[in-house]
Amino acid sequence: MPTHDLVVVANRLPVDAHTEPDGSVRWVTSPGGLVTAMESVMRGVDSGAWVGWAGSPGEAPEPFEADGMQLYPVDLSAEEVRAYYEGFSNGTLWPLYHDVIADPVFHRTWWDTYREVNERFATAAAQVASPGATVWVHDYQLQLVPTMIRTQRPDLRIGFFNHIPFPPFELFAQLPKRNQVLRGLLGADLVGFQRERDALNFLTCVRQLLGHAHSHHDITVPGIGSEPARTVTARAFPISIDTQAVSALAEDPEVIERARELRRELGDPKKVVVGVDRLDYTKGIRHRLKAWGELLNDGAIDPHDAILVQVATPSRERVDAYRQLRDEVELTVGRINGDFAPIGRPAISYMHRSFDRREMTALYRAADVVLVTALRDGMNLVAKEYVASRPDEQGVLVLSEFAGAADELRAAILVNPHDIDELKTAILHALAMPEDEQRTAMQSLRRQVLDNDVQGWAQSFLGELEAKGRPDEPAA
Ligand code: G6P
Repeated sequence: MPTHDLVVVANRLPVDAHTEPDGSVRWVTSPGGLVTAMESVMRGVDSGAWVGWAGSPGEAPEPFEADGMQLYPVDLSAEEVRAYYEGFSNGTLWPLYHDVIADPVFHRTWWDTYREVNERFATAAAQVASPGATVWVHDYQLQLVPTMIRTQRPDLRIGFFNHIPFPPFELFAQLPKRNQVLRGLLGADLVGFQRERDALNFLTCVRQLLGHAHSHHDITVPGIGSEPARTVTARAFPISIDTQAVSALAEDPEVIERARELRRELGDPKKVVVGVDRLDYTKGIRHRLKAWGELLNDGAIDPHDAILVQVATPSRERVDAYRQLRDEVELTVGRINGDFAPIGRPAISYMHRSFDRREMTALYRAADVVLVTALRDGMNLVAKEYVASRPDEQGVLVLSEFAGAADELRAAILVNPHDIDELKTAILHALAMPEDEQRTAMQSLRRQVLDNDVQGWAQSFLGELEAKGRPDEPAA
């Protein structure tokens, strides 16, 4: 088996295998911000490998090459998908790490499977890493993997990045098996988070629950037996997008033409307002629909003048909370359209499917306003993609304070999405914003996104990991 100098380990591969009715396999881009970000980072790497799940239960395909990168599929049985992915990852950890917006559910058998599956990912990574290689583990589904890799391959440099929030101690303390999770993460040399407050939450949990002291961002982890103590660094590395690639697409004349066409297809309204989200309860879609419905009801928005386009990408459709959310969202959209849509045109154009990059960029270019109303979000790359898609410096971003992106995108209209009146005011403010004011805000947002792209993010994470030295080297 070939080995690699940089190995990415994530629950999903960058592509999902979809089996067609005739039995053939079609590969499609996987959903979510992690893949959006890491795919472009890995395209620029020689000798890179990605270990992950191909997205459907059953025997994994053989390793294969895509975009110059070697992909190593890990198999998950139907039962493992249920217990590890839908269960502990998305039924327990996801809601707990997102401020318990939905109730976390826990079953002991889920934990056992989570551990077993993490071990499988760790073994797969250990097998394909060159001597002294760097292994970069991603996200909440694989928190035990760093220590499991270290046990098998002490020669490796190990980084971990958490794409979602890390909860405050008061919430994390509810997690059964909390200490095992912390010990799993502490196998990494560098643990990265989206926001500084996530890193601080982690440091507090480590101190309170494991008793390990830290000085600023460095934690001293005592060695086991005769092993020397190690230093693990935990700090924020806010993730971003491939700004150049998105900007280039947004300048493509065909995409610009498609944006015009989209507005025509929407009935040439004066204002197009857009929401793009995985259909997830953390995204605040219900709050957004409530605000839009009330604005129509108040007569503050005329449905002949303005339309809300909501793209809701299907997600985790077998998890109860996601099924319920879909029912509620679709009921609400139906009601609002029934009450307010003019003949032949919806008040809300709702799509439950995913769009490709070009179509999405065209939609951003067509949008007068983009609404990001997450109740809690690690970063939210939609906000950054919208900004990168507007070289014309027009358009307004309404952004939740509860998205990580709000730390950086200060020139957006920042809102507390729980306050429906505030959200309504923000939407009206965005719709009425004069062009010169839009330009000033968009210029400032663009500076932020152009100066901080995903390549810079990866370089800074990997650079810091490198600077920490290999386990057998004296610290740099
Ligand atoms: C978020 C998570 C990723 C996850 C993605 C899509 O971005 O941080 O780890 O892959 O959502 O969710 P899914 O459950 O479909 O992989």
